Amino acid sequence: QQGQNYDYEVVAQQGTTEFYKGISTETYGYNGDLLGPTLTIEEGEKVEVKITNDLNEPTTFHWHGLEVAGEIDGGPLDEIQPGESRIITLEADQPAATLWYHPHVHEMTAEQVYRGLSGMLLIDSSDKEELAIPNDYGVNDIPLIFQDRLFSEDKQLNYNQLMDEDGTLGDVSIVNGTINPKLTITKPIMRFRVLNGSNARNYTFSLSNDASFTQIASDGSLLDEPVEIQELTLAASERAEILIDFSKLTAEESLAIINDEGVELLPFDVKLEDATANPTEKWTTEEPFLTPEEKEMPIEKNIELFGMMDMVTINGKKFDADRIDLRQEQGVTEVWEVYNKKDMMGGMIHPFHIHGTQFKVISRDGKEVDPSEQGLKDSVLVNPGEKVKLLVTFPEKGVYVFHCHILEHEDSGMMGQIEIY
Ligand code: C2O
Ligand code: CU
Ligand code: CU
Repeated sequence: QQGQNYDYEVVAQQGTTEFYKGISTETYGYNGDLLGPTLTIEEGEKVEVKITNDLNEPTTFHWHGLEVAGEIDGGPLDEIQPGESRIITLEADQPAATLWYHPHVHEMTAEQVYRGLSGMLLIDSSDKEELAIPNDYGVNDIPLIFQDRLFSEDKQLNYNQLMDEDGTLGDVSIVNGTINPKLTITKPIMRFRVLNGSNARNYTFSLSNDASFTQIASDGSLLDEPVEIQELTLAASERAEILIDFSKLTAEESLAIINDEGVELLPFDVKLEDATANPTEKWTTEEPFLTPEEKEMPIEKNIELFGMMDMVTINGKKFDADRIDLRQEQGVTEVWEVYNKKDMMGGMIHPFHIHGTQFKVISRDGKEVDPSEQGLKDSVLVNPGEKVKLLVTFPEKGVYVFHCHILEHEDSGMMGQIEIY
């Protein structure tokens, strides 16, 4: 199909990366050696995308958080074989948000993501709120993909040797694919689109000077109103957009994003061109996050997450491609209750993700959620023993999966299928 123009061409391919200077290791990437280009779709617009698999194994192209029809969602049934291409149309019929894309081949998702297949997918909008916040991509609007990796002694990424069935955790932090990153800051107010792109790790981010920062968006939309926080916790696959104000830093002061152990994940090199910060206008949404009726809706679906290692299940079952576990009508809103059942060991956090929808979190153990969760979500952290209620609507039809986003759990079958009719 030479000469044909697509809005985007995305090729999954093999490459090599020098995480450590002078030592290369085999990695996967989209259109390159590691990670992928940021794709942007305007709210309400369509883009034509040519997806190609140049790997030596099957892959899929999943648009995490995008409300597309089941047939182009890129779930585990949507394999693209080595050498194959497909042309699809992605439509952003949903609010501005920071989404992402990654492969989803059953039993190979964790390894393919670990080797480097992930990219950002942004929905842009010219809404009033969007324009009032920094939106100069690469200048004051920066995506940050946080991941952790393990390297063998000779600094090679070897997934099979490192794989842990409860989720491969690494002792090396990478940000946008870089070890020991440093980011130069030239603008006083910076917007960061933070993705926890790790296979399993939960991150709690804060600033090295303990200062507060502003969270403006959750996975799938702006928050109902910006919220000042000092800590941001993201489970695997969750996103948040935050604003950090650098204008009040004194010349000697240094600043970094750190984790809950005080480890610097991303130090900043602050070189402001002009320190006058135009404060972002605060917005508040007139409508309540949830109407009284929505809060009172009866539970229609019960989801029970259970287990650890490879003994993980949803509602007592492992994934079966030939089985439809749940059904829901297109456009009809239902309440799901997701219960993370403890085991004898006490259980563990499972980040629960649903394809094809952006939902609202109604409550955690009956309590209204924090303002930082009062925006659209597609993944939700569920603590051991906790019951989380979700308000779920699917705008499109098709078969979708829902699963734990600890990728090794997903590959071990902690996943089910829902048909939207
Ligand atoms: Cu991030 Cu099933 O996806
Ligand atoms: Cu997804
Ligand atoms: Cu899990």
